[in-house]
Amino acid sequence: MRFIIVTTNKWKVREFQEIFKPYNLRYRVEPLKTREIQSVDLKEVAIESVLYAYNILREPVMVEDAGLFIDALNGFPGPYSSYVYRTIGVKGVLKLLENLQDRKAKFVSIIAFYSPFTNLKTFTGEVEGRISYEARGESGFGFDPIFIPIDGDGRTFAEMNLEEKNKISHRGRSARKFAEWISSLRKLPPPYVDMSEEKNEVF
Ligand code: IMP
Repeated sequence: MRFIIVTTNKWKVREFQEIFKPYNLRYRVEPLKTREIQSVDLKEVAIESVLYAYNILREPVMVEDAGLFIDALNGFPGPYSSYVYRTIGVKGVLKLLENLQDRKAKFVSIIAFYSPFTNLKTFTGEVEGRISYEARGESGFGFDPIFIPIDGDGRTFAEMNLEEKNKISHRGRSARKFAEWISSLRKLPPPYVDMSEEKNEVF
């Protein structure tokens, strides 16, 4: 099924393109700015965005919403991550954690997909890690320079290349689940084809 990835984030597009390569998916990217409701629930934000996008584009659509959840800050900035990034940024987050030993954090990614044939579907990916003491690396975007994934070798996401980050990232995990699911739809016969032989009998 052809679909549209709705995002204005060029870096996310590069990540999706790389993750989707082995799946031969048919999609295009639309840099439509969706309406993001303010909610403490990332999934709710993603669902509202995908329905908003579908109402405008009227084709199968996929959106992704992600957030950084820091343990010592009770999960902040979480769903407010993009606002926090735009306001206090990486430096501000490091300042909030100054002198704190507990630096545990996780990234969560929610992909929401909507088409009239499949209805609404969501896919979640998470990566556990910790916040570094200083920003390191030039690659990636957002909080990549201060996030050290637990499954890695001590480098921040921004010190990894695209493939290395995708292998273990929240987005890599949610996007692979989505890609597996949408690929599996192709293997099913279309629901409107009646396979029963009786139908073809002529009386
Ligand atoms: P969005 O709403 O999905 O664009 O994500 C909210 C904010 O979380 C972004 O503005 C980024 O600052 C941050 N973020 C989301 N995903 C990532 C990532 O993969 N690396 C670094 N920061 C991210």
